[in-house]
Amino acid sequence: MYLNDEEKAMLAGEMGEGVRLAMKVLVGIGEALGAGRMVPITRAHVALSNQEADTWFAEKLRAAGALCRVPPTVNPGFCLSYFQAAGMIQEADRRQMERTYQVYKDLGARLSFSCTPYLLDNIPHQGELVAFSESSATPYVNSVWGARSNRESSQSALCAAVAGRVPEYGLLLPENRRATAEVEVRAELAEDYDYSLLGWLAPRLIGPHIPVFNGITRPPSPEALMNLGAELNTAGATPMYHLAGITPEARTLDQALSGRTPELRVEVTAADLAETRRNLFEPGGSIEFVMFGCPHHTLRQVREVAKIVEGRRLKAELWLLTSNYTREMARRMGLAQIIEAAGGKIVPDTCVDQPTWRHLAGKKGATDSPKCAYYTKRRDLRFVVRSLRECAEAAVTGVIQ
Ligand code: F3S
Repeated sequence: MYLNDEEKAMLAGEMGEGVRLAMKVLVGIGEALGAGRMVPITRAHVALSNQEADTWFAEKLRAAGALCRVPPTVNPGFCLSYFQAAGMIQEADRRQMERTYQVYKDLGARLSFSCTPYLLDNIPHQGELVAFSESSATPYVNSVWGARSNRESSQSALCAAVAGRVPEYGLLLPENRRATAEVEVRAELAEDYDYSLLGWLAPRLIGPHIPVFNGITRPPSPEALMNLGAELNTAGATPMYHLAGITPEARTLDQALSGRTPELRVEVTAADLAETRRNLFEPGGSIEFVMFGCPHHTLRQVREVAKIVEGRRLKAELWLLTSNYTREMARRMGLAQIIEAAGGKIVPDTCVDQPTWRHLAGKKGATDSPKCAYYTKRRDLRFVVRSLRECAEAAVTGVIQ
């Protein structure tokens, strides 16, 4: 792999041990994946998990003197002040989150603690070279913004932020960004939730191909595109998709395919989506809680929930996770007060996959996100997965179909 003089000096440790370590990881990845050279990045997002191995690696870089050249935004762990005040965490949880907070602060990260930076404060332009980890973020920046990122891990994205560069392979190269599977959508995608169903189903049909979805006529909302990417990259490993006539590298079906014949063609019908919905995790029935915000809910989604619960009293716990920014906006606009008056909670800076949710273990809840149901299985949270509208109604009635 070619390295310029500066990169050779970085790898030789002439710019400090932290930079050397980051470069060693990046060069190892580049050599394993056939990269010809390194290329500079201008943005990064690190999907910190607030779990031991992840924090350990960040601390190793810090101990070696690393600092981020490209300050990355970061995923949520959990909001210490919120959960301490609520008395919902144990001493070991507090220590772990404090370590995570401190190490990313010391490394010079932007402590945004949200999994939707691509809709908030880390929005690349078309063609920009970036290093994004987080399963909903990578497809969004590639597909919707037309930026170029590989499906980074938390660790490789952090190394990229420290070194300010990434090995050039995969989706950084235009020839690897074309669709190789055509998915003909013969169903009306009326709600954002339908995109979650499509994203959950598609990887089972197309495997590791980059899909172009054809036949979608109604322009999707940002939330629909967020859902699609989150589920494609959770049910499968699909860091990029095209929507013919909608996303920037797919002005036409032909452009998405780079003028070639797709290697695979499949069809998705309304019946396929209905069956996907039927088979998603738990069957309907009584629920004890509703969890929203995986990925973090946007202000529009908060407003939708507020509209449904306004003036009503909730039978089930309602937890709505979002960025600190959106929570503050929701408060200014009176939406947070509406949800709280009904008995719901809006939680900033927090992920569904954290020890903060112990009290929900073994209970059955509802969520609008298959990703939420998938990741929290290991914490023994059980979910019925339905649309935002159905879940918000279920928070009021305590029952979901
Ligand atoms: Fe965000 Fe955690 Fe879900 S990072 S997308 S809430 S698994």
